[in-house]
Amino acid sequence: MGAALTVGAVLPLAADEDAQLVVNGEIEMVTRAEAPPHVDGIREVISGWVFRSDETQALQMDDFDNPGMIFVDQARDMFGTVIGSEDKSCASCHENPEALRGVRAVYPKWDQAAGEVQTLEMQVNECLTQQMGADPLGYTSGDMTNMVALISSVSRGMPVDVAVDGPAQSTWEMGEELYYTRTGQLELSCASCHEQNYGNMIRADHLSQGHINGFPTYRLKNAKLNAVHARFKGCVRDTRAETFAPGSPEFVALELYLASRGNGLSVEGPSVRN
Ligand code: HEC
Ligand code: HEC
Repeated sequence: MGAALTVGAVLPLAADEDAQLVVNGEIEMVTRAEAPPHVDGIREVISGWVFRSDETQALQMDDFDNPGMIFVDQARDMFGTVIGSEDKSCASCHENPEALRGVRAVYPKWDQAAGEVQTLEMQVNECLTQQMGADPLGYTSGDMTNMVALISSVSRGMPVDVAVDGPAQSTWEMGEELYYTRTGQLELSCASCHEQNYGNMIRADHLSQGHINGFPTYRLKNAKLNAVHARFKGCVRDTRAETFAPGSPEFVALELYLASRGNGLSVEGPSVRN
């Protein structure tokens, strides 16, 4: 670890050890699971929810308390709204958001026609531009992040299950390499914090394993839903390195790799974080 990184005393996970995440009294989340075989550095994968304070944890346990659900409702309206030259709404082809149940769990995913691994954001923009004759949404814009949260919300409780082999393998390998590459003035990799120091305090924050099964996340800090690539940007900046752009091939690869580290955890988005 770089000297500039002050990691405090180990905060035992014991306080949260038995905490169970059940949303609305019915969706039972897997917040701890055996690490998938393609992950070397950790034996158990633990959801970011486990590392948050009791108060923050509680906000995610009921949709009436989860401020992220307001944005999901906004996206639900958008889902039924006609836009673009083809006079279609999302609902014209995908009856309702629930028809997209299961989709979040397997993205990012190889798209045969496009010949690339696609994130949910890329798929939504493909539908907007190619199916609806509408303009694409900004990659981490509010409307896009809310729509991704809606699509995620209908898969809550399902195990993350992204494919790491087949045509997606080279993208996955690129993501793995990015995850372990030390960058910036502080010479830190994602692994320096999220694999080697999870459970420790960094400044006032309790370090998690940095999974993305809870994305988009509603953050108390900025009172809106936050996209995965926006979080990547923040974390890379913290290492004082040049960051990649949201939607860039590097961040898409990193997202696939990170999603795969959480294979077996439940889809939680929209989650609540500090
Ligand atoms: C004119 C029909 C049409 C409209 C309108 C449309 N889509 Fe799609 N959508 C498709 C088709 C066809 C596919 C599958 C082919 C593909 O991958 O592009 C698809 C795939 C998807 C998928 C991936 C499903 C999977 O199993 O991988 C998502 C998510 C999605 N659409 C979201 C949306 C959203 C959100 C909107 C509105 C902004 C929308 N779509 C509007 C036709 C449409
Ligand atoms: C200097 C330490 C540090 C480094 C290096 C770092 N992060 Fe983070 N990251 C944090 C902190 C602190 C948080 C907020 C607390 C938490 O959830 O761990 C965080 C949160 C996250 C989260 C949100 C987790 C959740 O459950 O909401 C993700 C995802 C993430 N980081 C990914 C990355 C990726 C990818 C990299 C490498 C490009 C990276 N981080 C590098 C410190 C770091």
